[in-house]
Amino acid sequence: MSLETQISDLRAEITAAIEAAETEQSLDAVRVAALGKKGSVSALLATLGTMAPEDRKTAGPAINGLKNEIAGLIEARGSELRDKALEARLAAETVDVTLPLQPAPTARGRIHPISQVMDEIAAIFSDMGFSIAEGPDIETDYFNFTALNFPEGHPAREMHDTFFLKPGADGERKLLRTHTSPVQVRVMQKTNNPPTAGYITPPIDPPIRVVMPGRTYRNDSDQTHTPMFHQVEGLVIDKSSHIGQLRWVLEEFLKAYFEIPDVTLRFRPSFFPFTEPSMEVDVQCDRSGGEVKIGQGSDWLEILGCGMVHPNVIANAGLDPDVYQGFAWGMGIDRIAMLKYGMPDLRAFFDADQRWLDHYGFRPFDLPTLFAGLSS
Ligand code: DAH
Repeated sequence: MSLETQISDLRAEITAAIEAAETEQSLDAVRVAALGKKGSVSALLATLGTMAPEDRKTAGPAINGLKNEIAGLIEARGSELRDKALEARLAAETVDVTLPLQPAPTARGRIHPISQVMDEIAAIFSDMGFSIAEGPDIETDYFNFTALNFPEGHPAREMHDTFFLKPGADGERKLLRTHTSPVQVRVMQKTNNPPTAGYITPPIDPPIRVVMPGRTYRNDSDQTHTPMFHQVEGLVIDKSSHIGQLRWVLEEFLKAYFEIPDVTLRFRPSFFPFTEPSMEVDVQCDRSGGEVKIGQGSDWLEILGCGMVHPNVIANAGLDPDVYQGFAWGMGIDRIAMLKYGMPDLRAFFDADQRWLDHYGFRPFDLPTLFAGLSS
């Protein structure tokens, strides 16, 4: 075979291999096979030494020309492959800067509206000089009813749809408290009523100004009732506390809570065994739009029960009703949460549905304060 044919065959073969190389590694393998020590072009170059000088004159430049041509082709293909690899990498690592940021876990967590409203209540009443007290969810019949002036067999006990527990070893049947009113007695209670299991709040000496939020339980369930719900109780006991102060406290609370400049309240006579007189309070509202707006309009919405603490309750708690008097109120927390934040169904409060919490929940570091805003 003539040298010319040899060179053109090699050129065709190696050029095809260079074009077929799809990666830098396979291209390098082509380079080694052609130009390496034992490569095909190197082998051809080695034949120069055995040639007659005049043959070498033409063969030398021809074979070296092939060598340089192949080296140039490899170089060009190499830079093409490097460009392609870079392009592929850039495409793979593309970041869409228009996508929303993945929020940090602290930004994703949500405070339940009930916790938020309890914090708002605590902020408002602490500002008015009230302290916060708590009592046990599992109560005795004594604190839930008897001490609150519900006589044995009194029909008001039935109205409470009480969940009773199985009798204990002593035969006593405890219950899930049906309201937060028993905490009133626990707060006022003096040494003649020794602390019982679950006793949390130490007695407070008059003057007493305390709010008592917590869970309450009744056997009831529909769109506005759940077997477990929340109340906040208020109690003021001093030597001359009166209904005028009660009215002021409630007005101030409702204005602050609903974040409105003014509110009108309507007091209706009612009955609770533990207050005398007893009243139900309606708050002025507007129902003309789709939602209930508090503090405007000409409608009324019942919002809480209250009254002057019955002398029997003061006496049951070990204080002298001839010296001390005061007022109390009880309010549904879930209800005022629904009113302020517009949830239509109470049962959703207890479904633990993440989507509901994302929508109605509050950011964990936005603690409600009067100076920074309760709900902003
Ligand atoms: N405990 C009552 C209830 O759950 C609410 C209530 C009414 C509480 C009048 C009070 C009060 O302190 O004075 O229905």
